[in-house]
Amino acid sequence: MSNSCKKAYITTPIYYVNDIAHIGHAYTTIIADVLTRYSRMSGLDTFFLTGTDEHGQKIEEAAKSRGKSTQAYADEISATFKNLWDDFGISYDKFIRTTDADHMKGVQKAFSVMHENGDIYKDTYKGHYCISCETFFPEIQLVDGEFCPECGKSTTVVEEESYFFKLSAYEDKLLAWYHENPDCILPRSKRNEVIRFVEGGLQDLSITRTSFDWGVKLPAQMNDPKHVMYVWLDALMNYVTALGYGTDEAKMDYWPARVHLIGKDILRFHAIYWPAFLMSLGLPMPKHIAAHGWWTRDGEKMSKSKGNVVNPREVAEAYGLDNFRYFMLREVPFGGDGDFSQKALIDRINSDLGNDLGNLLNRLIGMSGKYFEGKVDSSLVEKYYQTELDEVDASLEKLEPLLFEMQIHRYLEELWRPLTVANKAIDKYEPWNLMKNGKEEEAMALNGLIAAILAKVSVMLYPVMPEVCTKISEALSFKINHTTWQKLIKEKKLLDSFTIEKIPPLFPRIEEPLIEQAEPKDISSGKNNKAEKAKVTESTKTEGVALIGIDQFFQTSLKVGTVVEAQEVPKSKKLLLLQVDIGEEQPRQVVAGIKEWYSAEDMLGTQVCVVANLKPAKLMGLKSEGMLLAAKDESGLCMIRPEKPKTAGTPIS
Ligand code: MSP
Repeated sequence: MSNSCKKAYITTPIYYVNDIAHIGHAYTTIIADVLTRYSRMSGLDTFFLTGTDEHGQKIEEAAKSRGKSTQAYADEISATFKNLWDDFGISYDKFIRTTDADHMKGVQKAFSVMHENGDIYKDTYKGHYCISCETFFPEIQLVDGEFCPECGKSTTVVEEESYFFKLSAYEDKLLAWYHENPDCILPRSKRNEVIRFVEGGLQDLSITRTSFDWGVKLPAQMNDPKHVMYVWLDALMNYVTALGYGTDEAKMDYWPARVHLIGKDILRFHAIYWPAFLMSLGLPMPKHIAAHGWWTRDGEKMSKSKGNVVNPREVAEAYGLDNFRYFMLREVPFGGDGDFSQKALIDRINSDLGNDLGNLLNRLIGMSGKYFEGKVDSSLVEKYYQTELDEVDASLEKLEPLLFEMQIHRYLEELWRPLTVANKAIDKYEPWNLMKNGKEEEAMALNGLIAAILAKVSVMLYPVMPEVCTKISEALSFKINHTTWQKLIKEKKLLDSFTIEKIPPLFPRIEEPLIEQAEPKDISSGKNNKAEKAKVTESTKTEGVALIGIDQFFQTSLKVGTVVEAQEVPKSKKLLLLQVDIGEEQPRQVVAGIKEWYSAEDMLGTQVCVVANLKPAKLMGLKSEGMLLAAKDESGLCMIRPEKPKTAGTPIS
């Protein structure tokens, strides 16, 4: 990807509002933020788009199950994404929502254009639909004739009148595009997958639904009000409606996108449907579609029911946002799958960041203070250390192409070489001996060399770790911006002389995991465990009460449960052993510290409110798979129950 165009447009997928953000969402958004920050620093007028995908059956059902209007529910969850990106300092220019009026007008306009071009016709769709993936599947692709080949969930049989997009007519044009643009899909291995899929033949795509309502209506002139648009047509169009397509077109000069960042699961929509839609609309193709891999946690797939979903806010609060950003980008080769574990994160922080980067800055501050009253002078660096400078500049030169080829882990690997050069130079030339032997000039130049290396590294690391690098640059008395990027990186110059600012260590060593595994709390004690306390640290405090965001509240899965078995726990004064039906295949076993106030008989057949996504814990050797809500004051404890009988498993929100 060359840097020659003046404008750049970078996008993330728009996130479904059926759930709050997890590490996968944060990963895509942070990569887009890194590319955007670099692109801006290198002088390109860059537009960064993110947002939320709010239509479709999945969202309609999620809202219904929570007893909310779809719009109110979409508003709530969309805000949790926006708040998270704001709190993370994500440098987006626009946060689009598919429920925005302008977007919907743009989608209708696109439908009309495709229709006028003869690419849309009406017929009947017969087949299977996976609501979770919002995808149609021909029977032949289903697992055991019923289950979704992507997510494994049960599909629904659909037979309804539908408008179709003539995807099959674009097979050859798409293949030509892939072949003429070897980097259009990154990594290249993914492009081969797409080519094989298209070569296997494309079927026309059903692009409207009549069996539900929550979507963009067809343009008025179609005079067919019972249809709403297929959520993927609606969603993909966001990349151009955000620039004004179909309305004021004011920002359309940012099109085509320099890169659409996506996860590998949505490659087909972006690499086949989207280019075909663009061809039909007569719009240019995006330059790159870059698909990253999948994150797991401690080697396991993340899922709400397992309660092991990595919450990016919690990780950033515990370990520092920039450290988390660095970890995600350094740990996984782009396109490959990654595993999150606190151990791996701690290793990266202590080793790469603490030992290599943080220590170098400490060494510089120490040397400058001890020998030169804090002064750093670069004037003689070239005279004594040209070899080291050449080595550093050679590494830095390799970086920009790596970034835009999506080899971000290699970018960081290469960026660490100058730090090794610097650390080795100190060990080799021993400034303390230079000073002892009267070679003050050489020691001064060495000090200047280390400062120059730190300055250059901090400029190139800035897109990944903006806060940390701003601190380093402040200590070194310069600002990171286009001018200093030009001077230190492109022109390979050094810093002017300055007096170094002492700053506290940037990466204090971490000895043990900072996020505790949540354990069910003993409800009779009424005390929060440490992990729960940690979750509220982000909050503002009002009159001693910690405030949390709605997204934090939604991390707790609360459900109505019916106690179907109850007995005392032998030898325990406090505990009852309950089997609670929360609408799953098997009742959950819950060990509750309520025996002082309720007998087993009292509890049997009653309804309770259950925290359903706590990690299982053992109490007196018995597994407990949930926690019951209760209130306790001086007069004793009472259970919190639904006011009227509710079906077991009904979500509480
Ligand atoms: N709404 C669609 C995208 C429409 S874009 C026109 C959608 N939304 S999503 O919320 O389900 O997923 C958004 C992104 O999150 C996808 O790129 C997906 O790959 C990514 N991830 C979801 N789970 C993930 C992991 N466990 N790991 C990494 N990324 C994952 O799809």
